[in-house]
Amino acid sequence: ILRRSLSTTTTRNAIKNVTVIGGGLMGSGIAQVAAQTGHNVTLVEVNADILKKAESSIANSLGRVAKKLYKDDAKAVKDSDLIVEAIVEKLEIKHKLFKSLDEAAPTKTIFASNTSSLSIGEIASVTNRKDRFGGLHFFNPVPVMKLLEVVRIPETSEETYQALMAWGKAVGKTCITCKDTPGFVVNRLLVPYIAEAIRMMERGDASARDIDIAMKLGAGYPMGPIELADYVGHDTTLSISEGWHKKFPENPLFNICESQRKLVQQGKLGVKSGEGYYKYN
Ligand code: CAA
Ligand code: NAD
Repeated sequence: ILRRSLSTTTTRNAIKNVTVIGGGLMGSGIAQVAAQTGHNVTLVEVNADILKKAESSIANSLGRVAKKLYKDDAKAVKDSDLIVEAIVEKLEIKHKLFKSLDEAAPTKTIFASNTSSLSIGEIASVTNRKDRFGGLHFFNPVPVMKLLEVVRIPETSEETYQALMAWGKAVGKTCITCKDTPGFVVNRLLVPYIAEAIRMMERGDASARDIDIAMKLGAGYPMGPIELADYVGHDTTLSISEGWHKKFPENPLFNICESQRKLVQQGKLGVKSGEGYYKYN
């Protein structure tokens, strides 16, 4: 039924076949929402075990399970209209992937990265299709969060941008347009906000619990900043701050929080590892 209703709104260039590379926290959510809205989805992972984990995480919340592939980029992208990359947040690894995808994918295929903090232009620089390249930044948990940031680089063609906006709408998200600036809109505001909350706690001005209660009851946020830091994962937010701090050392908003660095060293990554600033069972 979903397939049929989608085809009534399909335009000539509409995105139908989607390849998601990386089936971790974000990629499995992206594959899920794309499959749920009637797209043909191929999910690529580095090994069969991780793929199985992604599969069961999707199957838990979805009856219709996407087609899966273990690491054969050429086969995975053969008929793809859109490739969404959601692999590890390391520029060199994303470069390696996009270089090989650029050779394997047909000319028509649009490339997108779900990066949280890297520059889309820098990621796209290794391809010969910068006009068919953009950012599609989803939020965790993907099936629940309604926003999609669509990032344009100067080279992104109008046609590509329109196709990305239309696809975002087709997967049920509200799209906003972002420039290729650090953190786009949400993370540029959210990451310094979380860091400020941690610094407040580090100074002993207020407890974690009180800061969280304050922002929930005093500012209407669904989670307080310390809870949210545990939820997003300290490895993720620390690596974002570290990357920006290195690139923009003069900006104090991107300074590293020592207590967070310590948590990561101890493997206390937040909800996913069972402990962060709070403990989880
Ligand atoms: N998958 C599918 N559904 C989920 C889900 C998941 N992972 N997590 C929660 N839900 C669903 C629940 O099933 C529930 O659905 P029903 O109402 O139909 O029962 C609904 O969402 C609400 O969940 P809960 O009742 O368990 O809990 P809640 O009301 O506290 O909501 C939350 C949970 C949606 C996560 C909410 O606390 C929230 O919005 N928190 C803030 C999340 C946020 O800020 N995310 C952005 C992080 S930053 C980022 O992602 C960018 C980056 O680059 C790092
Ligand atoms: P994750 O570690 O949960 O998942 C990454 C997955 O990619 C892993 O399962 C890994 O096996 C797989 N992978 C790595 N290299 C691969 C390759 N060459 N081919 C196929 N699969 C490969 O990470 P995540 O949290 O899902 O983040 C993925 C991307 O999404 C990052 O760029 C991150 O910045 C971004 N992002 C994360 C969040 C968040 O809240 N965690 C939010 C928005 C965007």
